[in-house]
Amino acid sequence: MTWHYPERRAMVRAMKRQDSPDDLQGRPFADDDAASFGARDVPPEEKASLVRDVFTSVASRYDLMNDLMSAGIHRLWKDSMVRAVDPRPGQTILDLAGGTGDIAFRMHRRSGGRADIAVCDLTEAMLRVGRDRATDRGLVDGLHWLAGDAQALPLDSRCVDAVTMAFGLRNVTRIEDVLAEAYRVLRPGGRFVCLEFSTVVVPVLDDLYDLYSFNVLPRLGSLIAQDRGSYQYLVESIRRFPDQETLAGMMREAGFTRVTYRNYSAGIAALHIGRRL
Ligand SMILES: C[S@@+](CC[C@H](N)C(=O)[O-])C[C@H]1O[C@@H](n2cnc3c(N)ncnc32)[C@H](O)[C@@H]1O
Repeated sequence: MTWHYPERRAMVRAMKRQDSPDDLQGRPFADDDAASFGARDVPPEEKASLVRDVFTSVASRYDLMNDLMSAGIHRLWKDSMVRAVDPRPGQTILDLAGGTGDIAFRMHRRSGGRADIAVCDLTEAMLRVGRDRATDRGLVDGLHWLAGDAQALPLDSRCVDAVTMAFGLRNVTRIEDVLAEAYRVLRPGGRFVCLEFSTVVVPVLDDLYDLYSFNVLPRLGSLIAQDRGSYQYLVESIRRFPDQETLAGMMREAGFTRVTYRNYSAGIAALHIGRRL
C-alpha cells in the first residue's frame, strides 16, 4: 500500500493525543459564547460549577499534590510573591482564589500578624481546609475567610490596599471581570499582584515541560489523589491561559498602570504586578 503524504499526516494526527499542548496553545480562553474548561469549551454559565467540582474533589490532597508536582518549587515562587507584596501592619489585603491559605499565611507572617487579610474563594471545601490549617497553627486574628466569586466581589469600592491572586486567574470564566473587580476594590496607590502559570520561554525546556505536565502530572493525580481528571484539567488550563505579554496587556486595559512581570523558572510561572492610580 502506498501512503500519500496527506493521509500519513492525518494518521499521525489521529495517533497523537487528541488535545496535544500545541493544539491547545492559542485557543481562546473565553468569548461571549464559550469558556475554556481545560481542553473543552463549555457554556460560560457552567464553568464556575465545573471548577468548583474540581477543587472540591482535590481539596484534601491539594497541598500535598502541589509539593509533589513541583518538587516544592511552588513554595519559592509564593515566598517571592509575598516579598513583592510586602504586606505592612495595618494594611487590608484581599487574597483572591486564596484556597487553602498558602499566600494568606505567608502574608500574615510577614506583617507580624498585624495586617488584615481576607481569603476569598469560590470553593467551600478549599476554604475549610484553609481554616483548619489556620486553627492548627493558632492563627485566628487577622485572617478572614470569605466564600465568593472573584468576578463579583461582595466588597465596597476602594477598600483594600492590595489584591493578591495565586494560581487562580486561569480558573475563572472571564479574566477581564476579575481584573475589573480587583481594580474597583483597590484604594488608589494599591497594587494587584498575580502569580500564575505562564508560557515557558526557553526552547527545549518548553518541550520537556510539556512532556512532564501532559504525561506525568495526570498519572500523579491518579496515583496520589485518585483523580486523574482534575490534574488533566490543570495542565490543559495552563496551556490555554494567556502568555505573559497578553496578560500584561489585559491588566493595562483594565486600568492598571506601571504593569510589570517577572518570570519564575523560565516562565513556568510568572508574577504580574499592576498599580491603581
Ligand atoms: C489552584 S487553586 C490556588 C489556591 C491558592 N491561591 C494557592 O496558590 O495555593 C485555585 C483556586 O481558585 C479558586 N477559584 C476558581 N475560580 C474562582 C473564582 N471565580 N472566584 C474565586 N475563587 C476561584 C478555586 O476554588 C481554587 O481554590
